Amino acid sequence: MNSVLNSERVVRTFVEYFEQLDHRRITGSSLLPPPGDSVLFTTSGMHPLTPHLEGRPHPLGRRLVNVQRCLRTTDLEEVGDNTHLTVFEMLGTWSLGDYTGSHSLRWGHGLLVDGFGIDPGLLYATVFGGDERSGPDVESLRTWQEIGVPVELTGEENWWSNGPTGPCGPDSEIFVWTGEGPPRSTPTRDARWVEVWNHVMMRHRCGEDGTLDSLPQRNVDTGLGLERLVAVLQGKTSVFDTDLFEPWMRTVPPLWDLDLRSLRLICDHLRSGIVVVGDGVLPSNTGRGYVLRRLVRRVLTSLWRADPSRTIGDLPEELFGHTLDHFGQQGPSGRIRDVLLDEERRFTQLLERGRRVLSRPRFCGPLGEDDFDYLHDTHGLPRDLVLGLRADLHG
Ligand code: SER
Repeated sequence: MNSVLNSERVVRTFVEYFEQLDHRRITGSSLLPPPGDSVLFTTSGMHPLTPHLEGRPHPLGRRLVNVQRCLRTTDLEEVGDNTHLTVFEMLGTWSLGDYTGSHSLRWGHGLLVDGFGIDPGLLYATVFGGDERSGPDVESLRTWQEIGVPVELTGEENWWSNGPTGPCGPDSEIFVWTGEGPPRSTPTRDARWVEVWNHVMMRHRCGEDGTLDSLPQRNVDTGLGLERLVAVLQGKTSVFDTDLFEPWMRTVPPLWDLDLRSLRLICDHLRSGIVVVGDGVLPSNTGRGYVLRRLVRRVLTSLWRADPSRTIGDLPEELFGHTLDHFGQQGPSGRIRDVLLDEERRFTQLLERGRRVLSRPRFCGPLGEDDFDYLHDTHGLPRDLVLGLRADLHG
């Protein structure tokens, strides 16, 4: 494997490979989905393209490539392990009713092996094996057999949808062996098989009642998580050890003495906080602003566990500038820093108020629902915070 590929080269190699195959690059949209979309944040590369997967022509044609930043908070508790991040980048390609899934898999394999130098003997694919709604994905199975990549057939793990309704279809995931020695077992049985690329044969639409209709065109939607791919290519066990997090991992440990999991959580959430504010969101008690608020509060809770004098203000300007640059966002970084510091001040005040209120005799015993309601409605103290403060106050 090529250990000198830095993340910028990886992105460039990916985009140019598909441009040579007549794909047009679309601008990676911001984390905020297009108006009218009900979700808070873009969670995958295909998300902003939904109308075009459903048949509306795209102004740039039927073959597209991009790099899309995404935010997912569904795996918040996993952040701190080797692979999970809240903000991540998805390298994506699309055939909007143009070439077949088989083409896409062949090109994907070609890029991994010839473009990125991955040993073909370290690859494994999973393919949808069929269920009561849809038959097995025979075309993908046959393609992998022709290329010579071993295949594992699975069930719902290989059915991709972006939500309960909308475009969906069987997918084929490509895994790379990251263990010592020759590959063993299969992707669903051994976590050392790391998923790098998902190809979705997006040809169905799922209705409110769970039934599947055919979309007007047969699409292919693929996505590779950049950070995970870079970790594999750079031979790193964790996304935090790649060049993408280098400035964070160099700068934060000397500032604050943290265990590894807290260090990773803090770097991930702060980086996400910067990107979210950079995309125009401000902390608030609802919607997007609340997601941001939660990220910042989780950072501060971890940070203050050992030393309450720590502050986001300790962070060097470099980390703000580096993050904004990387995501192609407009500064000034000083403004973003002010937003986060302001949020830190509010949280400090909220905690002080919480401690004062909770030390009243009324709240020393067990709390009922009416207590939680009162604390929330009258003092702005959410349940999680109340529970955390009581644990601190009463041991
Ligand atoms: N939509 C698929 C995914 O997010 C492939 O892009 O994995």
